[in-house]
Formats: sequence, structure tokens, C-alpha cells
Amino acid sequence: MGTANPNPPHHECDVLIIGSGAAGLSLALRLAGKARVAVLSKGALREGSTLWAQGGIAAVMDDDREAIDSHVRDTVVAGAGLCHTDVVRFTIEHGRESIQWLIDQGVPFTRKHSAGGEPEYHLTREGGHSHRRIFHAADTTGHAIETTLEQKVRRHRKVALFEHHIAVDLITAAKLGKGEQRILGAYVLDRKRERVVLFRAPVVVLATGGASKVYLYTTNPDLSTGDGVAMAWRAGCRVANMEFNQFHPTCLYHPKAKSFLISEAVRGEGGRLLLPDGTPFMEQFDRRAELAPRDIVARAIDHVMKRHGLEYVLLDISHRPAEFIEEHFPNIHQRCLEFGFDITREPIPVVPAAHYTCGGVMTDLRARTDIPGLYAIGEVAFTGLHGANRMASNSLLECLVFAAAAANDIERELPRLAPPPELPAWDESRVTDSDEEVVVTHNWDELRRFMWDYVGIVRSDKRLQRAMHRVELLRREINEYYGHFRITSDLLELRNLVVVAELIVRCAMLRTESRGLHYTLDYPEPDESRPPHDTILIPPGRRSANAPAGDERRTIRPSRERE
Ligand code: FAD
Ligand code: SIN
Repeated sequence: MGTANPNPPHHECDVLIIGSGAAGLSLALRLAGKARVAVLSKGALREGSTLWAQGGIAAVMDDDREAIDSHVRDTVVAGAGLCHTDVVRFTIEHGRESIQWLIDQGVPFTRKHSAGGEPEYHLTREGGHSHRRIFHAADTTGHAIETTLEQKVRRHRKVALFEHHIAVDLITAAKLGKGEQRILGAYVLDRKRERVVLFRAPVVVLATGGASKVYLYTTNPDLSTGDGVAMAWRAGCRVANMEFNQFHPTCLYHPKAKSFLISEAVRGEGGRLLLPDGTPFMEQFDRRAELAPRDIVARAIDHVMKRHGLEYVLLDISHRPAEFIEEHFPNIHQRCLEFGFDITREPIPVVPAAHYTCGGVMTDLRARTDIPGLYAIGEVAFTGLHGANRMASNSLLECLVFAAAAANDIERELPRLAPPPELPAWDESRVTDSDEEVVVTHNWDELRRFMWDYVGIVRSDKRLQRAMHRVELLRREINEYYGHFRITSDLLELRNLVVVAELIVRCAMLRTESRGLHYTLDYPEPDESRPPHDTILIPPGRRSANAPAGDERRTIRPSRERE
């Protein structure tokens, strides 16, 4: 048995940023030197989804109104009626300065071959985009962005970095019964020293990325376990639109490839989807064919695979010159070669996999959540930008734009915020070391498998009920385990995954229509009888003053969690 530590290790800062992807690091760099900033990452600094982004970052660089309007229009069309147009316009109008900021940091975007004069950037295209407007660094854009920001932030003496530190829970005034609701800090597990550390901060920013690891097959790295959504929910923030988990249509089908992504830019540059006998099929589903928005392409692939009993479909770019393919897709070309496929000469087998969490913690245009002092940026946030289906390459843009918006707001607010009071240490006096780690690994596998089978690309009332039944059983078991044993990062992630799974299933159950990424056999059409609406979930004990009327009907209460 452990004992309550009377002098727990603790840190103090002005701004605690939980997460070190495009969102977290760009915010840290914008605030560096203006506030005492600490950044947490649960693994090494660069290990987030950002590192793996391929296609690029969508933005309009000139002042051409029509070009901006067209990016807005495409985003709204892809979002299937649920995008908040003020947010879409805000994001896209700030695209130019975000790209310029990245260029100023040193991100090496791919340029066109041009003889002298101003550098011109090569723009690519992906699903849903009616024009070429995607800045990219060949097919490893995320690597270029993450490593550039990482180098900058490591050199900055004013930013304290805490790698291998996983946030356990947020500390709020309401939880401690200390006056008006506001954020006070977080409990954090130092994974190397295996102890829980206290961080005190008047501002905390969730930049924890997405939750696609809740599905068995995903393009995401292992750390995308929805920790930020689960922590915010437990702390009392509203969460919205979790039913819209995006499935990327094309991951390499190979037992050792671990859902290696084949960028949509491959289709943007002419790649075709084929049945194994070579027949193209996308025209039957949408006039935009391979460049239809992602939800449509993923669903079409799922449909033909089920109809023809296929394990995969084919993606073929081999009709383009080999030099072009090698120049634009060097990483994809190389990785496929390692698995025995030469994309310059032959089609490759592909399948869909979970890719992006469109829903998340509700925020406003300043990235503020429902709790004063708590912000959320990047994939963890629900800003209203993506609607029912995110358009390709709008995510990195959202990370950058909302990091800048949060930085401005935090800089303005910080002088007005009182330092948090003394906080209680993490209490381990009533827990022991686990003697049955198998519970964690078993539940981890079970959860991700039934989410894939029952809450995947095609849903039904019955499948959702089955999933909810299992979620409830697992949640009880995991909470009991959490209440008795000393925490590990695997247990923390599993505890968060089961919360995320519940939120996804509840949202899906409440949406009695098919729209964007949510397709259900029981309601195969959009509900035209009322205006499109977000699915907003309100945590227990909280009634939001600004929650739109009618939320009540769509409200759920989570089970009691150990606090
Ligand atoms: P991430 O980059 O995922 O970073 C999350 C951070 O949070 C990590 O540092 C992690 O350690 C930390 N963290 C999480 N939980 C905790 C915790 N409990 N405690 C401490 N730290 C924690 N989008 C595009 O716009 N264009 C693309 O071309 C593109 N391609 C993609 C390709 C792939 C393979 C994938 C997976 C995604 C792609 N996306 C793309 C989506 C995009 O990359 C992500 O949405 C975006 O990078 C998310 O950035 P982020 O900063 O929000 O989170
Ligand atoms: C891709 O390159 O296909 C991924 C782009 C994205 O997710 O925005």
C-alpha cells in the first residue's frame, strides 16, 4: 500500500499545454517569452498524429475573395450541412497567416520548378477540394511541420518540456469545492519515475489530439486515445458530435503495414480505385468519383467490399510517369516497396481505417471551453469547422489557426488571472500494485474490436445497442480496477478510451438520420423534417447557460467516475 505523500513533487507555470503536436507546439512557440509555458507529451515530443500527416495543409494565400469563398464552399459541402459557417470563414481567412508563420519557422514546403523570381509553392489536391490549394512537403508534410516546430521549441529556453508525462485528470475549483468554477491545474503521471506530479496553472490547454485508437484499425499512432475529451468530460465540459469519426478510405492492406496511410493526394494526382478485376467503381457512387469527400469514398469501398466479398480494393497511380510518382510520393513509394509493391508499376491493395475525430470538446472562436481558463485546440476540440465530415487537409489548418487564436486570448487574459490556491496531493494511500494486468490488455482489445464491428462505417440501432451494452460492462470493470490499483499509462488510456467509446455510441444513438460520416441502416437518409443539428452532450451536474434550446433531449449523463 502506498501512503499519501505530504510533499508531492509539483510544478508551477502560467500556461500548461497538454500535447506537443502541431496545435500544442505552435501555441507554445507563440506564447514563449510572454508567459511561463510548460508542455507535456505522453511519449517523446514528436510522437503525435502530426508527425504522420501526409497530404498537406489547405490554405488560400492570396487575397482573392473568390478563392476564399471557394475553400469555404468546399468545406461546407464536405461537412454535409453541419459546418458552422462563421467558424469555417474565420479559419479559412486565417489560413494565409498560418502558412506564412510556418514558412517563417522554416517549414520546407515543396516548391514548383521555376526559373528565378519569387518562390512558388506546388499545390496539390484531395477529396472535396474543387481546386489545388494544399501546401505540402512532398508526402511527409506532418514530419516537416512537427520536426521544425520541435527543433524551435527545444531551443527555446523559456518553454519547459516534460516528455513521457501523461496527464491523468484536470483539477478544477468545482471539483475541490473552492469557489467559482475555473481551472487550477492537472495531475500528471511521470512515466519514467512512476509517480504522479502536480501541475498548478491558471491556464491549461488541451492539445491532446484525437481518439481514433478506439477502433481496431486506425491510421493513428498509439497515443490517440482521446485523453483530452475524456478529461474535459470528467471535468464538466460539453462534448459534441462524437458520432462523426472519420474513416480514411485508403490504407495499405498488408498484415505488417499497421494501416499505413496512402494519401488522398495520390487520388488528387490521378489515382483510380478499382475492383480486383480492374473495373473502376467510384463513378457509380458520386460524379466526383475518386475526389468525392472522404465519407462517400470510404462508404463506397465498404459497400463494394461487402457486396463482392472482397478483402480489399485496388488503388492505381501507375499510369503516371515513374519520375512524377517518385518525386511527389517518395515516402509512400518507399514504404510500399518495403511491403513488396511498386506503385510506379502496379495497383496496390487498400482498405479504410479510422482516421480522424471530428467531434470533441466544445470551444468558441478563442478556443475557450466551458471551464474558465481551460482551452482546447487541434483535433481534441469541436470548433464547428468540420461539420459531419472533415475535408482533407483542413485539420492541420485548424490546429494552427486555433493555436494562434488561443495565444491571443491567453495573452490578454493572463494578467487578470489569480494564481491557483494550494492543491491537494495525489492520494495513493488506498491502492495497491495490480496483480492482473491481463484485465487491461483484454479490455483494450475487446473495446476496439466491438467499436470496429458495431460502430464503424455502417451502423444500425441493433449494433449500437450491442456496443452500448458492452461499453457499460467494460466501464464498470475498468472503473473498479482504476479504484483499486496504482495507475499505469495503459490503464489511464483504457479508462479514457471507454469514456470516448461511450460518448461516440451515445451520440450515434441520438442521431436518427444518416449524415456525413454517420450512416445507419435504420435511417438511411438525412432528416429533412428539421434543421441540421449538432449532437451536444452535457456532463452530469452541469447545465450550460449557452447550450442551445433543445439540447436536453440529446443530453446524456456519464456513469459515476472515481474522482
Ligand atoms: P497530435 O499531433 O496528435 O498530438 C497530440 C499530442 O498530445 C501528443 O504530443 C501526445 O503525446 C499528447 N497527449 C495526448 N494525450 C496526452 C496526455 N494524457 N498527457 C500528455 N500528453 C498527451 N491532417 C491534415 O490536415 N493534413 C494531412 O495531410 C493529414 N494527414 C494525416 C495522416 C495521418 C496518418 C494521420 C494519423 C492524420 C493526418 N491528418 C492530416 C490529421 C492531422 O495530422 C491531425 O488531426 C493533427 O496532426 C492533430 O494535431 P494535434 O496537435 O491536435 O494532435
Ligand atoms: C491524406 O494525406 O490523405 C490525409 C489528409 C488528411 O487527413 O487531411
